Amino acid sequence: MTVWHRLGSTAELMERVPFALKLDRHAIALFHYQGRFRAIGNSCNHQGGPLAEGRLRGEFVMCPWHAWEYSVVTGRGPEGYDEEQVPVFDVEERDDGVYVATPPASPRKLLKHKPSHLLEAHPKPPGAPPRLLGISTTAMDEANPRFSTSDALLEHAVRHASTSRRAETQLISLRELKFRHCEGNYSKASHACTWPCAITERDPEDGLTPVYEGLVHWADVVLIATPIRWGNASSLYYKMIERLNCVQNQITIRNRVLIKNKVAAFIITGGQDNIQAVAGSMMTFWSELGYVFPPFPFIAHSRGWDAEDMRNNVRQVKASETLRGASHELADRALDFWTVLDHHRLELDKPMERAGRKANRLETAGEVTA
Ligand code: FES
Repeated sequence: MTVWHRLGSTAELMERVPFALKLDRHAIALFHYQGRFRAIGNSCNHQGGPLAEGRLRGEFVMCPWHAWEYSVVTGRGPEGYDEEQVPVFDVEERDDGVYVATPPASPRKLLKHKPSHLLEAHPKPPGAPPRLLGISTTAMDEANPRFSTSDALLEHAVRHASTSRRAETQLISLRELKFRHCEGNYSKASHACTWPCAITERDPEDGLTPVYEGLVHWADVVLIATPIRWGNASSLYYKMIERLNCVQNQITIRNRVLIKNKVAAFIITGGQDNIQAVAGSMMTFWSELGYVFPPFPFIAHSRGWDAEDMRNNVRQVKASETLRGASHELADRALDFWTVLDHHRLELDKPMERAGRKANRLETAGEVTA
């Protein structure tokens, strides 16, 4: 049965549009377009973004979370996406005010989108060797490469894991991947930061997929190598970890732990010191993702604050049997620790709660589908 609801006078509503309101069980976004009020469902078909907070460009409102668009007249997406539709509600401007009718005149139409392969697990056959992923985060000009101390130690560690420990190995150099910066969807609303990452879903050119795939689905052990840049890990490292917010955020919003029983360890090198601060910050981040650490989870090299003679730094790392040995031992400790975890997999595979944070369900628009 259709029910008409009075929202207020034209003048009152003109002061407020666009805005969201609830009528019965329906979350509605009210706009003013081409001289008339228009009412559509407030909740985006994608992840429930609040359409009343979107930008109106001509007839289309752009969802503030990941930029899907809908006509405020028909509720449909733009050309090519016009099978997708949010509910449209009848609106009447009468002498005593503006009225909106519920239920909607046309319902929501959700298209079935192909799910991202990043949502699928890729289980390992029983008895398969451990998988170790090395990630290099140092930047350089590929056409004119230089010797990197962190890369060199990472390569030793990965080679050792492959040849002496028979691990399956992969090495990713972030500098070879063209990937976009995190756009801070989490800062809009916790539910706006999605897994898979909204950038990965939307931009086929974005190159971070091997990192997501490697960390979430492939690797048992990950070794991350960074130079020290102004007392911190490299800028490429930070560019990557900002994009990993979507992995951590699944714990916050859904109690869904994507990284379980996986081990991380670190290689940190720099001309000047700050190793402990870099290691501390890396361990904090990777523990938030769900990684655990072997004993002595990092190796590092620095010659101290006043060592600005960088050529000696490079020479020393190149010549150091001790550091080479340390990189092998780091890989060994990480693989050994993973083996212990793997033996206890059944005991460890029970559901996990990340204490101290509540899954925040308050930020979704929460519309009941008409
Ligand atoms: S585009 Fe609307 S929630 Fe993603």
